[in-house]
Amino acid sequence: MGNVFVLDHPLIQHKITYIRKTETGTKDFRELVDEVSGLMAYEITRDLPLTEVEVETPVAKTKTKVLSGKKIGIVPILRAGLGMVDGVLRHIPTAKVGHVGLYRDPKTLMPVEYYFKMPKDISERELIVVDPMLATGGSAADAIQSLKKRDAKKIKLMCLIAAPEGVDHIQKEHPDVDIYLAGIDEKLDEKGYIVPGLGDAGDRLFGTK
Ligand code: PRP
Ligand code: URA
Repeated sequence: MGNVFVLDHPLIQHKITYIRKTETGTKDFRELVDEVSGLMAYEITRDLPLTEVEVETPVAKTKTKVLSGKKIGIVPILRAGLGMVDGVLRHIPTAKVGHVGLYRDPKTLMPVEYYFKMPKDISERELIVVDPMLATGGSAADAIQSLKKRDAKKIKLMCLIAAPEGVDHIQKEHPDVDIYLAGIDEKLDEKGYIVPGLGDAGDRLFGTK
């Protein structure tokens, strides 16, 4: 079973409060999603391997550490996942970015894939799938399945807010995937929205609706 990490850092929790508020407009919403994603990037990269190197400071030679060159891929689920890419890239600027286009059919709540474009070497990369919302979990589960079909080996999922149903879905279908969240909410409503959640992440990010 994959691990579930809820990142309770005060800066993350503070910004999530403003992201939730109805009166937060598109500009601030977008900036806050970007900032929280950057903060979450610290935690999601905590287990990256380091290697020892020797450097010379102005004072003496010393042994110190650098990242051991593990390749990273960031995979936003369109549209709303796009809002999380720059925050992560700020800390991992050499990461490549692949895109999965999925929307939820409003009647069935089933995900429909309309776009898939990845870096060539995804099997050699650790992939971080990003999407602000993990509701039923259908979209993230499908995106992960599509990546595995193309031979992706190591995948993590990073979302802002999840419903318990979404977490269960990923743990059942993809027990090898660790999930990183800023919060787990109460439930889903009859339209598949997370309660209390933050509303429609894509609409709030891009000012549609
Ligand atoms: C939202 C969200 C997730 C999905 C979550 O996208 O960004 O991708 O719903 O729901 P699920 O866990 O029940 O699948 P949406 O389908 O609204 O598309 P959009 O980002 O293009 O607005
Ligand atoms: N998608 C969203 O954007 N918000 C939700 O609450 C559920 C799915």
